[in-house]
Amino acid sequence: IPVDPFDLVIFGGTGDLARRKILPGLYRRYWAGQLPDDARIVGASRHEMPDEEYRAMVRAAIEEFAIEGRDDAARIDGFLSLVSFVAVDATGEAGWSELAEKIRPDLIQAYYFSVGPSLFGDLAERLHKHKMAGKETRIVVEKPFGHDLESARDLNRTLRCYFSEEQIYRIDHYLGKETVQNLMAVRFGNVLFEPLWNALYVDHIQITVAETVGVGGRGAYYDRSGAMRDMVQNHMMQLLCLIAMEPPYHFDPDAVRDEKLKVIRALDPVPPEDIVRGQYAGAEGIESYFTDVEDEASLTESFIAMKLHISNWRWKGTPIYVRTGKRLKARASEIAVVFKHPPHSVFGQKTNDRRGNVLVIRLQPNEGMNLRVTIKEPGPGGMRLIEVPLDMSFAEALGPEAADVPDAYERLIMDVIRGNQTLFMRGDEAEAAWAWTDPIIAQWEEQGDRPKLYDPGSTGPEESLMLLYREGRRWRDIQA
Ligand code: BG6
Repeated sequence: IPVDPFDLVIFGGTGDLARRKILPGLYRRYWAGQLPDDARIVGASRHEMPDEEYRAMVRAAIEEFAIEGRDDAARIDGFLSLVSFVAVDATGEAGWSELAEKIRPDLIQAYYFSVGPSLFGDLAERLHKHKMAGKETRIVVEKPFGHDLESARDLNRTLRCYFSEEQIYRIDHYLGKETVQNLMAVRFGNVLFEPLWNALYVDHIQITVAETVGVGGRGAYYDRSGAMRDMVQNHMMQLLCLIAMEPPYHFDPDAVRDEKLKVIRALDPVPPEDIVRGQYAGAEGIESYFTDVEDEASLTESFIAMKLHISNWRWKGTPIYVRTGKRLKARASEIAVVFKHPPHSVFGQKTNDRRGNVLVIRLQPNEGMNLRVTIKEPGPGGMRLIEVPLDMSFAEALGPEAADVPDAYERLIMDVIRGNQTLFMRGDEAEAAWAWTDPIIAQWEEQGDRPKLYDPGSTGPEESLMLLYREGRRWRDIQA
């Protein structure tokens, strides 16, 4: 079913995100019949460009990022007929009246700020001044939402001068991933897991987001952020919230975000001994982190592993280990909930071969779930126990179409149009995440802590393994 008619303006319409994600995502939704025939998609950026040239750019983006299984000249042309372009100066007056003419005040207007946060205020102010904002206006802002608590507060303040919280959609694209939403479905749509989902039964939780790419090409941004600001403060935090939060009374924006906020606020400060920071070294044909960011003296981490604690009734005492890094062994993200051993050994197993149940939710690739259970080894040899996986991949369980998982942005952009904020960060959530992050960063900056080098293609620095070993635990392997 198509969403209601809308005008969508993409500021930064010729940028990388627009080309890779926003426009291809819109095309896929168009293909699925979700865009109404009279939707308007307006690319906006500083330099003049005829509509035809912009459409050619959009066509190339579709061909590069969205064509698979959707190669149909007539449909591409149909989508392009919705697209136009206006040159607009975010900090000046040029182009605004022309843009305002394209906006239909009685419809939904979505303004996507796919530009650096320093322009958010200028854009918001001009939208206001040119009377392009009304009740049905939503603005979409990208991460990074600030660099620390203070800058995030400033951004919130600036945006709220012109828009209400209900109009501000802060994107964390991890929330748009199918399997991330599935986390909530698994927890709150089944009776099996929730009664065990607490410190009494869960030994620990592991959250891994491993990437094989380096930071070459975006070194200037990355070196000012590092893994903590780039991944932990936002994406990992969201995963942690969904895995740890209390059941919301309803799947409703504020109900869900209230519960997530409580998790963030209950996070303990993290002492230096529970943090391992790493930087990838170079290898044959692979540049080192230093080369990628062009700074031999950089102290920024491209890998981080931490042990976290949530001080609330449900989780007190259950460590949550998180790790993320670039140039690791495989691109693999998963959450593993490791349950405790059965309390008594009925079959005489020794303690060290009594391994607990593990529920693994694979976020990417090969989205699916896997539950490790103990069974009897078949055969006449007596009561010998082995562990086997109960394995479910979306593709196998639901057919090949389910393997065509929509990109996070597709879902999120449609939610913006539909006016559903459930999968977007609320302002107080973003601030609370920074309030927890800031002192951790300040602590290593004060100490001048130097990240440990690790080999590209490894699982990160050895010290990260020690973080678990020292407590008789181990990381799961990083496997695609
Ligand atoms: C982005 C980070 O937000 O997320 C990148 O800035 C990271 O550094 C990316 O590579 C990971 O997203 P995904 O969807 O590829 O897991």
